Amino acid sequence: RIYKRQMICRRDIDNLNVPFLAIYESLIPPEEEKVKQKQLLALLEKLVSKEWPKARLYIYGSCANSFGVSKSDIDICLAIEEANMEKSDILMKLADILQSDNLQNVQALTRARVPIVKLMDPVTGISCDICINNLLAVVNTKLLRDYAQIDARLRQLAFIIKHWAKSRGVNETYHGTLSSYAYVLMCIHFLQQRRPAILPCLQEMGTTYSVNVDDVKCAYFDQVNRLGDFGRRNKETIAQLVWGFFYYWAYCHDYANSVISVRTGSIISKREKDWTRRVGNDRHLICIEDPFEISHDLGRVVDKRSIKILREEFERAADIMQYDPNPCVKLFEPY
Ligand code: GTP
Ligand code: MG
Repeated sequence: RIYKRQMICRRDIDNLNVPFLAIYESLIPPEEEKVKQKQLLALLEKLVSKEWPKARLYIYGSCANSFGVSKSDIDICLAIEEANMEKSDILMKLADILQSDNLQNVQALTRARVPIVKLMDPVTGISCDICINNLLAVVNTKLLRDYAQIDARLRQLAFIIKHWAKSRGVNETYHGTLSSYAYVLMCIHFLQQRRPAILPCLQEMGTTYSVNVDDVKCAYFDQVNRLGDFGRRNKETIAQLVWGFFYYWAYCHDYANSVISVRTGSIISKREKDWTRRVGNDRHLICIEDPFEISHDLGRVVDKRSIKILREEFERAADIMQYDPNPCVKLFEPY
């Protein structure tokens, strides 16, 4: 299966830049959405601080990592030190506090894998999920946002890949396909691997930012504005990169032996990580190492059935990029 098909250069590839960039532009959230998100955050901060003056709220996920498309829900983390309270009790209490202030559909989901309070703000129309003390997610959000500032092609590529994944139904972890977070890591890894590289490996550079979260040391070079125009020697266009991305996952990735690792900016072996066999529910059929929680494989949700679907979708997309006269339409056709 590997190297089954040659990547034959399609002469009209660069005619696809304009339509791809138009899709990207159409997905960018308008400024007023950002303003509404800030309004909602300010309201929540006010309500929370009445009960817990020392607690803090952080936005994480796509509304803060710069990979959020228009009309995304917001993910919020409540950072709180309440040694005497169970997480589920904090969530119930939080739901109570928010319920009493005109917010709608406030629900505490205390038994979910990541327990949250869900709510909708009727004023702004925004929905949000609030979790507790998930500070690793806040830190990986910053890492993604910092990567996005280095080269504009990352954000363009990731928007297009996320849009493709949503259109094709392969962005649903509860159905065994990949999270948006996993797709963004795949894009970062891919751009780290281009020659010349389009992105550096921030975790292999001199540390300028370092925090400890739940015994995990999170350290990397975060002064990305000092990197100048890092990817300038690579002239690949967005159309070439979209094609290359799908081609890599369709025909080049060694699913049996390889783990992609943004942390090291390279590919590492499954053997090295002891990810060669199924342990519990983790099957490791496609391996994407979390940059900080390195024992965490973001591909763990993928099973025997969904790996087949995923790989067929990568092949379909690569073939469309290679042969279809109008890839920008065909690629995103609903499944
Ligand atoms: P969309 O909501 O699809 O636009 O993207 P998102 O980036 O918000 O992704 P998602 O809602 O799936 O995840 C929210 C955040 O949780 C991610 O951005 C990560 O910061 C964090 N996260 C950490 N570990 C995981 C994980 O194993 N799976 C997922 N999905 N998210 C994780
Ligand atoms: Mg989200």
